[in-house]
Amino acid sequence: MANNLLAGKVGIISGALNEKSIAWKVAQRAHAEGARFVLTNAPLAMRMGEINKLSEECNAPIIPADATSTEELEKLFAGAQEQLGGKLDFVLHSIGMSPNIRKGKHYGELNYQWFQQTIDISALSLHKMLAVAEKQDAFNEWGSVVALSYIAAQRAFLDYTDMTQAKAMLESIARSYGQRLGKLKKVRVNTISQSPTKTTAGTGISGFDAFYEFADKMSPLGNAPAEACADYCISLFSDLTRYVTMQNLMHDGGFSTTGISAEIVELVSAAAGAQE
Ligand code: NAI
Repeated sequence: MANNLLAGKVGIISGALNEKSIAWKVAQRAHAEGARFVLTNAPLAMRMGEINKLSEECNAPIIPADATSTEELEKLFAGAQEQLGGKLDFVLHSIGMSPNIRKGKHYGELNYQWFQQTIDISALSLHKMLAVAEKQDAFNEWGSVVALSYIAAQRAFLDYTDMTQAKAMLESIARSYGQRLGKLKKVRVNTISQSPTKTTAGTGISGFDAFYEFADKMSPLGNAPAEACADYCISLFSDLTRYVTMQNLMHDGGFSTTGISAEIVELVSAAAGAQE
């Protein structure tokens, strides 16, 4: 059900790695709602060429950029404005990676060089994008920026290791840059805190299946799927949310405000019964 919510709007969508990616779904929904956009990802992530399918489907050019490189981001933002024929109305930051998680390091044995890479890729990249956009005066007034976060920014989830700190920083950057860009250009900056989702980044975390199931059983509405996250992103890019800024918006089926659910009580009771 498309409603032309983004008719005439242009933007940049990062992070579409494969069909499971949240960014992939956002691109499909944005296209259906009438937006034009450039797709971007790290050059290494494009070697399988899957993004070409999405590019064809959405009629969206691709500009590769490593989000840790200011120089590559400058080319991305300049190239996007050139290809789309004007300033931007929306940007999706859907980028996260932790070498410590990839290598299976637990919280007590983190490699600090990798920790810095985690922060650089998953948090500072948002600051770099927005600083480049500001310098190039790349946004139209009432533009909208969305970055994807996770509740580990507020609560301890040990298996999420250094991504926990990266998400806390990402949300903080969204607030600070939201204040700055709001004043400068009436541009809003928000983070969406999404339920566990079965994507490449998600399933790379040790114990993912357990905390996916736990969150699903805790949330009265169940875990929010990637498609629903895409719908929320579209609403934030649309003109219907022009005064929402500097927020971390929970998109989690009610997980974050649930104490305990009947399903968890049942599970724990069954486990206790089995031990007797
Ligand atoms: P994904 O693996 O499909 O997407 C992550 C993207 O980050 C990939 O496209 C990858 O190529 C890109 N990336 C990594 N390093 C990069 C770099 N240096 N430059 C540019 N791009 C780079 O997984 P997913 O789940 O769609 O992740 C998107 C966002 O959603 C991430 O920020 C993730 O932390 C967040 N998120 C995911 C949840 C989940 O359970 N899957 C839950 C809450 C938030």
